[in-house]
Amino acid sequence: MSGHQWPLEGFVFFDGRCRCGLLEPEHGPVLQRLLERDPEFFELEFGLPPGPSEAQSAYVSLPEGKSYEDKFLLGIFRASELIGVIDVIRDYPRTGVWTFGTIFVDPGTRREGIGTAAVEGVQRQVARCGGDRLRGVASNRNLAALAFAAKLGYVASCEQPEAGDTVLELDLDA
Ligand SMILES: CC(C)(COP(=O)(O)OP(=O)(O)OC[C@H]1O[C@@H](n2cnc3c(N)ncnc32)[C@H](O)[C@@H]1OP(=O)(O)O)[C@@H](O)C(=O)NCCC(=O)NCCS
Repeated sequence: MSGHQWPLEGFVFFDGRCRCGLLEPEHGPVLQRLLERDPEFFELEFGLPPGPSEAQSAYVSLPEGKSYEDKFLLGIFRASELIGVIDVIRDYPRTGVWTFGTIFVDPGTRREGIGTAAVEGVQRQVARCGGDRLRGVASNRNLAALAFAAKLGYVASCEQPEAGDTVLELDLDA
């Protein structure tokens, strides 16, 4: 699960309000409690409320053919409190493209620009690592996620999504 390093030194972002860096295994219980704070999101995306192993799934989930060397599970912290999580996979589905898994901000701290700061921080780091594109998948029913992605400049990909989903992407060179 662990043992690898975020490809660059330092945090994804640190702006005085919060910081974003690699999650460690001991954050599992607090990550589980964080994810359980938004059952509606899990219903929208997966058709089920959060299960008892949501945090464990966040640590271990990996697309087919990828290794944990390419998975970066990042926590967003305000002081010592975990207020969000972002999962990003390097070079998936092809070299140069990085894929967001989870992007989740505590319901109590939404619409404060935290998600934007975290995603833009990841974008800067991915560009510095040589990535040229970021992509993510959202359910068409998740209107907050679609609005958030659109605000950040992500557009629908020509990639064929699973039924009911939209694949969103941002060209980092543009
Ligand atoms: C999507 C999510 C990560 C956004 O995080 P956030 O910290 O609230 O986002 P920001 O405050 O940076 O929002 C930036 C912009 O996105 C848009 N936006 C965000 N949430 C929105 C909502 N619920 N409805 C409409 N637009 C929204 C707005 O344009 C917003 O700018 P504004 O507040 O100035 O109007 C958060 O709502 C979340 O964790 N949702 C549950 C998990 C999820 O759906 N993840 C994405 C799919 S995996």
